[in-house]
Amino acid sequence: MEETTDLADAAQKVLKENDRENFTIPAEGLYPHQWLWDSCFIAIGLRHTDLDRAQTEILSLLRGQWANGMLPNMILGDNTFLNRRSPAYRIWKSWLNPNSPDELVTSGITQPPLLAEAIVKLGDRMNKTERRSWYQTVFPALLAYHEWLYRERDPHNEGLVLQIHPWETGLDNTPPWMNEIREHSLPLWISLLEKAHMSPLINIFRRDTLRIPSAERLDAIDALVLYSTQRRLRRKNYDIDNILAHSLFAVEDLSFNAIFIRANQHLIDIASFINTKLSDELLNNIKKTQSTLEELWDPYTNQYYSRNFVTHRLLKESSIATLMPLYAGSISKERAKKLVKMLENEHFFGPSYPIPSVPVNSSWFKPTLYWQGPTWVNMNWLIIDGLERNGFHDHANALKESTIEMVKRSGFSEYFNPLTGEAAGAKNFSWTAALVIDLLKT
Ligand code: GLC
Repeated sequence: MEETTDLADAAQKVLKENDRENFTIPAEGLYPHQWLWDSCFIAIGLRHTDLDRAQTEILSLLRGQWANGMLPNMILGDNTFLNRRSPAYRIWKSWLNPNSPDELVTSGITQPPLLAEAIVKLGDRMNKTERRSWYQTVFPALLAYHEWLYRERDPHNEGLVLQIHPWETGLDNTPPWMNEIREHSLPLWISLLEKAHMSPLINIFRRDTLRIPSAERLDAIDALVLYSTQRRLRRKNYDIDNILAHSLFAVEDLSFNAIFIRANQHLIDIASFINTKLSDELLNNIKKTQSTLEELWDPYTNQYYSRNFVTHRLLKESSIATLMPLYAGSISKERAKKLVKMLENEHFFGPSYPIPSVPVNSSWFKPTLYWQGPTWVNMNWLIIDGLERNGFHDHANALKESTIEMVKRSGFSEYFNPLTGEAAGAKNFSWTAALVIDLLKT
């Protein structure tokens, strides 16, 4: 019991240290800005200790919303005060798109739609009157965001929303995406650098590998691929019609869409709580997303995959996204059971400190390499929630316990080696701390 209190206190300390008044940075040094899904996870933890501050975390996110409804994955800073020589400022140039806010510099892409989850989780800590007023405050922004996702990211009205950069999934170098980019849009200059084995030289110029061992960060070539993909989007001023017209590649990402399905359910519940009617068009779209997710199921390998937006080819690489339909909450018991079986298998998603971000027996698996092996607390949190709602209470409890145990042993790291439970990546990472508070208190 005492140990538990100590852990919760230590987690709170991490959040205090990363607190920048109205938002929380993910980690000192490596991540100095505000990120979309990070702030949602952080607010979910903060609601137990300081509900006002948790609300501020969400409201400060909404400052970054674009006029078309998009929520950017990063808010880089105030337009007038931001150092114009800072790399983030020069990389994004959000002002190229007329929808970007005037006072803030942001990124030009989004991240998983966790906003609705965070809004509801904060609402759970309020009495009815407070909740109504909270929901009324944030509902217009939430609605505009979901409507934007359908309008701009489901241009053929298929039900699934597309993503244009792996950063939008939050799982940056996840195998299905890296495979797809390498096959379809690897610039010639990057292939040449790769052939010439230039990674060690490129690493000299990286900021992240100054702080974290390079074996724990993305491979240098993969990092270049991600930046060059971002540059192509910037050249199109982050305009989706322009991007799709030039057939830059796009993926209907499994994890993103699973989160969207859950978020839509929350949106419906929030609207009903404040007696607001959602349009028939939106409600039809929401239904369609649930049914179209089933098109991502592959009967030969018994699992879901992301798919290429243009060709509809499934990207058959397993990753942590494989389990995310459990979080969506819309899949059949039979399919849910098949996913849970993979979690039970120690050669797949069930090593000593689950859940690895790619299966242990995958050729991609590297235990400390970012989204290509390590265990991440945010994904565990989402899947614990999904297991609960699908009725797998024992699995949910076991995963909760191993997650807490891992953090108790190794600290509030960004990610963990799933074979040993050892820390990897940045230290004192905010969402690890916030979600451990939540796991301890719920
Ligand atoms: C990395 C992660 C992403 C996260 C960001 C800030 O880019 O892949 O999910 O939001 O860092 O923590």
